[in-house]
Amino acid sequence: MEMGYEGVRAAVSRIEGWKRSGITDRNVLERIGPRTPDDPASRVLLDIAKTRKRSGGKYSDGKRLFFTAEGLRWGTPEVAAEHCASRLSGPSAADVTCGQGGQVLSLARHCDRVLAVEIDPLNAFIASLNIEELSLDNVSLVRGDCMDPGIAGKVEPGSYVFSDPARPQGALERSLDDIVPDPRRILSVYSDISPGFCFEVPPYMSLDQVEFPCEAEYLSLDRRLNRLNLYTGDLMKGAVSAVVLPGGYSITGVSRQLPLMEEKIVSGEYAYEADPALVRSGLLRDALEETGMDIKALCLDGRRCLLFSREPIEAGFLGMAYKVVSICSEDALSRELKDAGAGKVTLRYNVDPSEYWERRLELESGLNGDKKVHLFKGEQCLILEPFGGRITR
Ligand SMILES: C[S@@+](CC[C@H](N)C(=O)[O-])C[C@H]1O[C@@H](n2cnc3c(N)ncnc32)[C@H](O)[C@@H]1O
Repeated sequence: MEMGYEGVRAAVSRIEGWKRSGITDRNVLERIGPRTPDDPASRVLLDIAKTRKRSGGKYSDGKRLFFTAEGLRWGTPEVAAEHCASRLSGPSAADVTCGQGGQVLSLARHCDRVLAVEIDPLNAFIASLNIEELSLDNVSLVRGDCMDPGIAGKVEPGSYVFSDPARPQGALERSLDDIVPDPRRILSVYSDISPGFCFEVPPYMSLDQVEFPCEAEYLSLDRRLNRLNLYTGDLMKGAVSAVVLPGGYSITGVSRQLPLMEEKIVSGEYAYEADPALVRSGLLRDALEETGMDIKALCLDGRRCLLFSREPIEAGFLGMAYKVVSICSEDALSRELKDAGAGKVTLRYNVDPSEYWERRLELESGLNGDKKVHLFKGEQCLILEPFGGRITR
């Protein structure tokens, strides 16, 4: 893009104004570049202006930052970026795959000097706009391939190195081979320069392929598994950790299986969803032991675990809270829902999203009660009624 920071800033606020007054995208494009409405630069300006509304949900300064829709989607959310930057705090850090700069903004708050590297010219330009917008005097930006030894040579010796590599959209299970640049290659280029690395990798990636020593930190955001950070060298605190954001509950240890549940679940007990970061990290057992309470845990499908107790539980790793209404077989489900006085049934087991409403309406068709229940399924069906907490659907 030929424009500089001032030009882009002025153009984006003009477009925001036009969009607020209801002008169509086509007309906006004609106004920006009357002779070339298909000019890619005009489209990027429009994209940035339209994305601003959403940037505020991800970054506290989002309403004045510059992100394309794609750049924002890949940007590390501020609450996760702050957590990671606080672990990398010190004299200097480098984000060697900085995208449009989401993580860089937090590193700049926690580190004295930050070097940002980005290979894609548009992303690098947009990152430079964000750096300028926030007057981040302690950040230098380099456009180029972080695997190039010339670029690696610009990283201050002793800097922690952060990389959130590019990865394909789609499948939940991914491997190190799918992500670019491969953290193993970054380690080989930067190992003489840096005492510690943090790699952000897909949270459902198997760790079998990770043969370098690291701490695997699972992070949840608003009760959803959001990130897996691999810390190496000086940055390692243990084998595995889990962090629950925005609350900040954290735990470090060694993954362990949950013990088999010996006692039965009974109606009237309290039930809680366990935070997915605790489930995925294998640290739920440690977290339960820390409470010193008598809590039963039931994992339903590898990702969802429910905790049961006769007493209410308060802990930073709990999601929605429920009371147990009934536990029954699939055959008895309709009758039990009716007897429970259920009217609405939220399905909380793996259902193909395209079939969700068909299944739900089928279950609700014979019901005329006024209770809103949630239905979980493991070996048995669990009918739970929310109390307190948030209802998401
Ligand atoms: C997931 S995005 C990073 C987003 C960033 N963490 C943020 O918060 O905005 C990954 C970025 O890595 C960049 N990238 C991929 N390979 C690279 C390389 N060899 N050198 C530098 N940047 C690279 C991509 O262009 C992309 O912008």
